[in-house]
Amino acid sequence: MYGRILGQGNFATVYELEIEGIKYACKKLKRLPDSYENEERQARFSREINLLKQFDHPNIIKVIRYDLTNYSYLMPKYEQNLETYLQQTGSLINNYDEMNNIMIQLTQAVKYCHQQGIKHRDIKPENILIENGALVLCDFGIAMLQEYTNNNRLTTIVQGFDSGPFTASEVKSQAASITESADVFSIGKILQYLLLQDTDDAVVQSSSISEGLKRLIADSTEYDPKRRIQSVTAFEARYRFEINDYLAVKEDPIILTVELLKSEYDEGIMNDFIADLYGVTDDIHFYSILSKLNKSLVKDWFVESESSLSYNIERYIQYIQSDSFFCSFEEVDNISSLLYLFYNEMDSSELKKDILMALTTISYKYNRFSAMRTVLSLLSNLTGVDEPIFALLVQDKNIIYFKEYVKHILNVENYFDRSKINPCILKYFQT
Ligand SMILES: Nc1ncnc2c1ncn2[C@@H]1O[C@H](COP(=O)(O)OP(=O)(O)O)[C@@H](O)[C@H]1O
Ligand SMILES: [Mg+2]
Repeated sequence: MYGRILGQGNFATVYELEIEGIKYACKKLKRLPDSYENEERQARFSREINLLKQFDHPNIIKVIRYDLTNYSYLMPKYEQNLETYLQQTGSLINNYDEMNNIMIQLTQAVKYCHQQGIKHRDIKPENILIENGALVLCDFGIAMLQEYTNNNRLTTIVQGFDSGPFTASEVKSQAASITESADVFSIGKILQYLLLQDTDDAVVQSSSISEGLKRLIADSTEYDPKRRIQSVTAFEARYRFEINDYLAVKEDPIILTVELLKSEYDEGIMNDFIADLYGVTDDIHFYSILSKLNKSLVKDWFVESESSLSYNIERYIQYIQSDSFFCSFEEVDNISSLLYLFYNEMDSSELKKDILMALTTISYKYNRFSAMRTVLSLLSNLTGVDEPIFALLVQDKNIIYFKEYVKHILNVENYFDRSKINPCILKYFQT
């Protein structure tokens, strides 16, 4: 029968249970004497089991067996929860290996939940189990399913829910709309707790942790959910970036970041994010970082949303045409292949025209043959003088310069094949 008590929460008691020589943990619902609340507790307990049955992730507790008649379920037994573990180890401020081990497994677990459309809402050390470095998230008692948010009172208003310092304000007040950032709050607090063994906001600033980690904790534990880091993916990217030096990761942090953030592009968000990361305050710095990146990655990022693409291309073009722009020859090659990609990606004739002009300007300025060849290949796409892009080119206020540059390129003796360019267009630039 039931062995010793392994732990207690507000709603359940977890007992050790030995079956055929193996020790398991059995979670059993606490029932209140004659309370209307029992029904709600039971319904929630069944929901918890149903959720856990659907999950399949190494960092989320598994249900081995369950019994809905007496509201209990069986799971693997873990040695400790994160709270008791930290009481033993003390702060992890000098043990980044262990901190990473915990943070990475925790973020994987929560990212998975969010992908399944579920917010945990009660992430705290007592609900995280550890054994031999392996971590699982447990206690989905008040976890919330996306689709239930608006039409099922049971899942939002929770009786007898005792919130603490790891709980976001909007969860405490049981606000009607709760987003994934509620879990980001808890994860941010846990990071603080691992480092400082204290959950008070004020303690962070005066501590000896790096400025970057301080900022990450502050940004993830903002009181206002709208001002908080919005997703665990973004949190993870920032976290990895902040401890990159420690990890001595060879990966380019921006590439890592872009990879991690692929799922959440939005106009300007990535720009702000990278700007933040690098303490960049103006476009010039931002785009000089960009031109060093892997171009297909940048395209991926920009292309994800059409508005973000044109927004960024416009800024990018302004940047490379500005007086203060300077780059190496190699970078010109990068820029031209990036612009070529953008040109093909865009539908807007206006933007295509701007791209063509920008590319022509830099290939002329740097006298770079590979870039010139790209210009000629784009010119070859123009079908004739009545083509919309051409019409826009001719109207542009910078047409005089543009014409001069193209003429120069066309006159780079015997180097380029002009036969592919439409004769009318060729004639326009040669006169
Ligand atoms: N599988 C397990 N192995 C060992 N201890 C556990 C296990 N599951 C839960 N516990 C302990 O029992 C406590 C209560 O379990 P929990 O699922 O959080 O219940 P509640 O919903 O009441 O908060 C946890 O904080 C933890 O210390
Ligand atoms: Mg619990």
